[in-house]
Amino acid sequence: MKNPQLHTPVLLEESTELLLNLNPKNFLDATLGFSGHAHYVLSKLSSNASFYGIDQDPVALNYSMSKIGEDPRVTIIDSNFSKISTIAKSYNCEPFDACLVDCGISSVQLDSLDRGFSFQTEGPLDMRMSPDFSLNAADILNTYSFDKLNYIFNTYGECRYVDKFIDNILIKREKKPFETVPDLIAVIKKSFFFYNKRSNFIKMCTKVFQALRIEVNSELDVLQQFLHDIIPLLTIGGRCSVITFHSLEDRLLKRFIRDHKAIIQPVNKRVIQLTYHEAKKNTRARSAKCRVFERVR
Ligand SMILES: C[S@@+](CC[C@H](N)C(=O)[O-])C[C@H]1O[C@@H](n2cnc3c(N)ncnc32)[C@H](O)[C@@H]1O
Repeated sequence: MKNPQLHTPVLLEESTELLLNLNPKNFLDATLGFSGHAHYVLSKLSSNASFYGIDQDPVALNYSMSKIGEDPRVTIIDSNFSKISTIAKSYNCEPFDACLVDCGISSVQLDSLDRGFSFQTEGPLDMRMSPDFSLNAADILNTYSFDKLNYIFNTYGECRYVDKFIDNILIKREKKPFETVPDLIAVIKKSFFFYNKRSNFIKMCTKVFQALRIEVNSELDVLQQFLHDIIPLLTIGGRCSVITFHSLEDRLLKRFIRDHKAIIQPVNKRVIQLTYHEAKKNTRARSAKCRVFERVR
């Protein structure tokens, strides 16, 4: 695994500015990761504030524990953020006046050779953010029906014309079950035309891997659950800032804010995106978008 410091926090100031100018006393970082945002937020929070950081990845939790665990304001919680209602009760930590969610995976997870998040690695097809999940990406490829695979590649990967690809998955697993990233890459190569362009191949791999990762980690369901459950845990006037990395998450968030306009309102009228310079430096995060909403009643 590469040096964990290699995760660069995205939209660092932009995603936290509208939270920090409330001078929050109780801050929730629902996706602590490698404490990039946390470190910055803690440098701005007052000495009597509390900071709660959640993650479900043991590598991220251990790293953050070693970096910010000694700070008396900090409580680090090993859990899925979709359980925020239970967490808030058991830590007796509500209401929050500021909350940050930085969706998706960190660079460290993506670069880990043994976790299967990247099509450029050769290890097992795992993709679980937490070891508690029972199903990994290989299990999905080895057990799902044609229709279920069709649904996840169409819906979560926004892939088109996948019939041949799925047929090839079913043929391959009959001979030998999927185990590693190269097993899947071989089937992708056999199933689509790339017109000799590596960029077309990379785009297709990105979509296929995104679809599997979303399914393995139930990413859209847990985000929906979190958004629903965080509203009553915010103070009136409390804010939640959410960074998304693909259109499915951003659409879900936009729709959620619109559908709950009686109790929450967008703070930024325009979605916050990377500047040209940040996108150039942090190409992996160039698709990031941030929306901030406020509880109004
Ligand atoms: C993009 S990284 C966050 C990076 C962090 N803001 C930083 O600056 O270091 C997302 C993190 O959220 C975690 N995560 C994603 N979904 C989660 C969930 N449902 N519950 C808890 N943690 C989650 C991942 O394990 C990962 O460490």
